[in-house]
Amino acid sequence: MDETQLAELKAQLLADVLCDLEPLEQEIFTLRYDLHLPDVLRPLHKLYGEREDWSNWVATFLRIVAEGYRERPEALRLLDLRRQAEPDWFQQANMIGYVAYADRFAGTLNGIKEKIAYLKELGVNYFHLMPLLKPRPRPNDGGYAVMDYRAVNPELGTMEELAELAGHLREEGISLCIDLVCNHTAKEHEWARRALAGDETYQEYYLMYPDRALPDRYEQTLPEIFPEFKPGNFTYYEQIDRWVWTTFNEYQWDLNYKNPAVFAEMLAIILFLANQGVEILRMDAVAFMWKRLGTDSQNQREAHYLLQAFRALSRIAAPGLLLKAEAIVSPDRLIHYLGRGPAANKECELAYHNAYMVLLWSSLAERRAVLMTHALQQMPSPPSGCAWVTYTRCHDDIGWAVTDEDAAAVGLSGALHRAFLSDYYSGRFPGSFSRGATFQFNPKTGDRRISGSMASLAGLEAALDNEDWEEVELAIRRILLLFNLIFAFGGIPLIYMGDEIGLLNDYGYLDDPSLAEDNRWLHRPYMDWEKAKERDEWQSVTGRIFRGVRRLAVARKYTPALHAEAGTYAVWTHNEQVFGLLRASPRGRILILANFSETGQRVPRHRLHEMGFGGTLANRLDNREFGEGPDIFLEPYEAMWLEQVGASEPISFSQFV
Ligand code: GLC
Repeated sequence: MDETQLAELKAQLLADVLCDLEPLEQEIFTLRYDLHLPDVLRPLHKLYGEREDWSNWVATFLRIVAEGYRERPEALRLLDLRRQAEPDWFQQANMIGYVAYADRFAGTLNGIKEKIAYLKELGVNYFHLMPLLKPRPRPNDGGYAVMDYRAVNPELGTMEELAELAGHLREEGISLCIDLVCNHTAKEHEWARRALAGDETYQEYYLMYPDRALPDRYEQTLPEIFPEFKPGNFTYYEQIDRWVWTTFNEYQWDLNYKNPAVFAEMLAIILFLANQGVEILRMDAVAFMWKRLGTDSQNQREAHYLLQAFRALSRIAAPGLLLKAEAIVSPDRLIHYLGRGPAANKECELAYHNAYMVLLWSSLAERRAVLMTHALQQMPSPPSGCAWVTYTRCHDDIGWAVTDEDAAAVGLSGALHRAFLSDYYSGRFPGSFSRGATFQFNPKTGDRRISGSMASLAGLEAALDNEDWEEVELAIRRILLLFNLIFAFGGIPLIYMGDEIGLLNDYGYLDDPSLAEDNRWLHRPYMDWEKAKERDEWQSVTGRIFRGVRRLAVARKYTPALHAEAGTYAVWTHNEQVFGLLRASPRGRILILANFSETGQRVPRHRLHEMGFGGTLANRLDNREFGEGPDIFLEPYEAMWLEQVGASEPISFSQFV
């Protein structure tokens, strides 16, 4: 498409779609259209540029954008202005995320309003509600099998109630995030139903094969994601005599993004959800969106182009919207979802730092931070306008994303280390403090993932059962150590519902036949509001954990040096048990030291000098000062946020904690 055609298209959209808008609104559309068009066309051309009907598709996509812009409610147009005036809003040190299932947290969407005060106690300003669009009846992979993207799960509420909740949260200073399952639909989705009824237009929406020839060739290099639930990546449907690509469960059909009609549908859904007031879309399973023979069909460059195109197009209609990549992939692949090269700052603004999560648990089991330090040092920095979401637990299992190269560099065998971690966290390893469960053992690869709540994995369940109070103390410290490090790293720390009060594994899922097969429900408990009341009891386990998290939230808020734009460097501390993290930018320099062992540890002063931390140092977390001289001593599992005295105002905790 040449410039004249694109200008004509713009004029046409203004005349047909946007004619009823105020002249200023039309000007704003024009401005964004011109600004973002190169970023729209670059990835789209790589995806669909070879097609004869390429220009028609560009026109279709841009028409969807114009319609999305026309439908954008006034309050959200204002939000767009606000976000553009403060583009680093989600990178700021005060950001704190909370993740919950609406039903397990508050019954329904309407019930959530009553819980806002609780979220505010924790300083939360980013709230991720787990899958809530209308799923197929159970089993539905915890809601990740959607049959209607424009309706809310009726058990939770309606789309109007979702929009109302989003507005309400926004007034309270909380941004709403929801899941967009973009790699697959439920087989009950209307598109899939039509495909199953033989409609060829809709069969093109999915990946279907008349025989095993191609599926067999693909299978040669494809991994299995749920080998226990569903071996293989294809399912046969007699009704249409076709093999359908089903990466996850049989009832989740992978979409065919080679077909631009699928891209167009998903684009319209993205803008529809943005216009309900959703501020962040968690783009589910994005690594799988494009398939290529002879590969594992993950992280293909086209998957990145799809995200870049969604990004650029949605910036025209709804620039306030952020995209968050859920790509649970190896560290070397992960960074690409935040955009590299010409796509830097032009893909997703947010991505899960699963490598960091895995390394935290790895260090905790090992009582050493050597692998973590090395592996983090190998990872490039994210682009300036992006941020990680950091987390210790989520609704999924933990897969040990430690590369063989990183392990070998510190004298470990990747395979043995991963096996050790599975043994450790399933509680099989002698002396392990952990109570987790093995998820999806794959006999072909030996791979074993782990389920379990943060508190149970960190030793609280076993310690309480054994009434071993010293161990309880250590477990509390482990939990707070992990929270500490996700709060300090840079990006948005996510508190996974219940972890802030130390909820243990919930074995209740075993009584529900539609859940019993999937032990990820072990760590998807109902919120225990009775237990939450104990947060005011200072010496209770709940109180200790909750107040610890709250203290971190306050400290983070008042420590601008933790802004996501600041460099994050893993540093050697001259003590293998102590992890060091340097955060540095013009906003300030801060050195995080974290003791991963249950014995006291020292970090030599000369090492701190080498890193530019001479003179008197102060710990931001309790305002304690360390004069020149002795080495820094850390209590078992203690972490400190050290700054040179005078670098910033000490934090007054008494008014908050
Ligand atoms: C994501 C979700 C996971 C789900 C999968 C398939 O990884 O987090 O829970 O099973 O996608 O949708």
